[in-house]
Amino acid sequence: MAYKSGKVETVSISDGGSSNPPNWCFFGWLLALTQLLLHGALGLVLFWVIYYLGGFGWHDQPKLEFNYHPVLMIGGFVYLSGNALLSYRSFGCCRHIYKKLFHTVFHILAVPAIVMGFITVWDSRNMNVPPIANFWSLHSWMGLTTMGLFAIQVVRMLVVGFFSFLILLCCEARTAALRAALVPVHATFGLITFLMAIATCLTGITEKAINSLGAKYRDLGDEAVVVNVLAVTLLALMILMPVLLLFDKFRSRRVHVVAVHGL
Ligand code: HEM
Repeated sequence: MAYKSGKVETVSISDGGSSNPPNWCFFGWLLALTQLLLHGALGLVLFWVIYYLGGFGWHDQPKLEFNYHPVLMIGGFVYLSGNALLSYRSFGCCRHIYKKLFHTVFHILAVPAIVMGFITVWDSRNMNVPPIANFWSLHSWMGLTTMGLFAIQVVRMLVVGFFSFLILLCCEARTAALRAALVPVHATFGLITFLMAIATCLTGITEKAINSLGAKYRDLGDEAVVVNVLAVTLLALMILMPVLLLFDKFRSRRVHVVAVHGL
C-alpha cells in the first residue's frame, strides 16, 4: 500500500514488497488455531497419561516413570519448540529483539524437558524387571534422529550466539551478510526438526496405544478416542506450522519506509 500526502510519501512493505497485501484476518485465525492445537496437544497427553495410564511415578515404579516420557517430549518438542518457531509470527507487534528473546527462551526451556524425557524412558526400560531392550523400534530410531537434529540446532545456536557476541565487539558490519545467510539454514533446519518430532510422536503414540490397549484398541473405546484425537491434533500441527512459517506474506515484520521529499 502506498499513498502520498503533500511532500510525504509512505510506503508500507508489510507484505514483503509484493503488490497483494497479506490477509491479516486469515493469518490471525490460523495463528489462533495453531496455538489452540499446541495447547490442546499438551492438555490431551496429560489427560491420557493421568486419567488412563495411572499418572506418574519414580524409579521404583518403572511403568509410571515411563509416563513422563510422552508428556515431556510433547511438552519440549511440540509445545515449547512450536512456540519458539512461532515467536516471529505470534509477537508480530514487538521489536525484533524481543521476538528473538522469546524464540531463545522457548528453546532453552525445551532442552531440560527433552533431556528428562529421554532419561525417564531410558531409566524405565532398564529398571523394569526383567529389563527391556533399548533401541529396537522404529520409534526409538526416529527419536534418536530427532534428538540429534535438535542437538545440532542447540550447538549451532550457542556457537553463532557466542561469535555474534564477539562480532558485536569488533567487526559487526563486515559479517552481517554471513549471519543473514545463516538465517534460512537455521529456519529450515528448525522446521525439519519440528516435523520429525511430530512424526516420532505419532509412532510413539501408536506403539504405546497398542501396548496398553492391545486388541481393545479396535473397539474404539474412550481411551482409543483420546489417543486418536491427540494424534490428529499433532497431524494438524504438521500441516499448519509450515503454512504459517513458510508463507512469505505472513512474515510479521512490518517495515514502513517514509520518504520525505524536499527536506
Ligand atoms: C519427539 C518426541 C519423542 C522422542 C524424541 C522420543 C524418543 C524415544 C527414544 C529414543 C526411545 C528409546 C528409548 C530406549 O530404547 O531406551 C523411546 C521409547 C519409547 N517412546 Fe518415545 N519419543 C518421543 C515421543 C514419544 C511419545 C509422544 C510417545 C507416546 C506415548 C512415545 C512412546 C515411546 C514408547 C512406548 C517407547 C518404548 C518403546 C520403544 O523403545 O520404542 N514417545 N522414545
